[in-house]
Amino acid sequence: MAGNRTFTMIKPDAFEAGNSGAILKMIEEAGFKIVAMKATRLTPELAGKFYEVHQERPFYADLCKYMSSGPIIAAILEKDNAVEDFRALIGATNPANAAEGTIRKIFAKSIEANAVHGSDSDENAAIEGNFYFSQLERVL
Ligand code: CMP
Repeated sequence: MAGNRTFTMIKPDAFEAGNSGAILKMIEEAGFKIVAMKATRLTPELAGKFYEVHQERPFYADLCKYMSSGPIIAAILEKDNAVEDFRALIGATNPANAAEGTIRKIFAKSIEANAVHGSDSDENAAIEGNFYFSQLERVL
């Protein structure tokens, strides 16, 4: 059975452009409930740890630099079938391939600066949420 939580980051490009509010509005209007949220900033080391599954990929070094280049918003979201429904809402990793009306189609600048992150499985949603939020920081 699909889980009911996922994890997202509004990435530095979208935060810097002042698109956080518009993105959060789309997320809430799509039926996701915010159960934990904070604005924060990653160091290059923490970005490297968050994305360590990609450490062999050619884009890893640039990704760590980009993800630590400015503030982000991290949030845990709740909805039935959360992981799959959120990935549909944000669209393809590369905004050039993202469907019309998706968050990345509207707000992403490039395959790297692609506005938002969404977990790719229930297991990773739990790992990624725990990376940012302690038990005490969870409202629900
Ligand atoms: P995200 O869904 O957060 O997961 C990995 C991130 O790496 C991705 O979004 C992009 O920000 C970034 N990235 C940069 N280049 C690529 C690429 N060629 N393929 C996939 N992800 C990339």
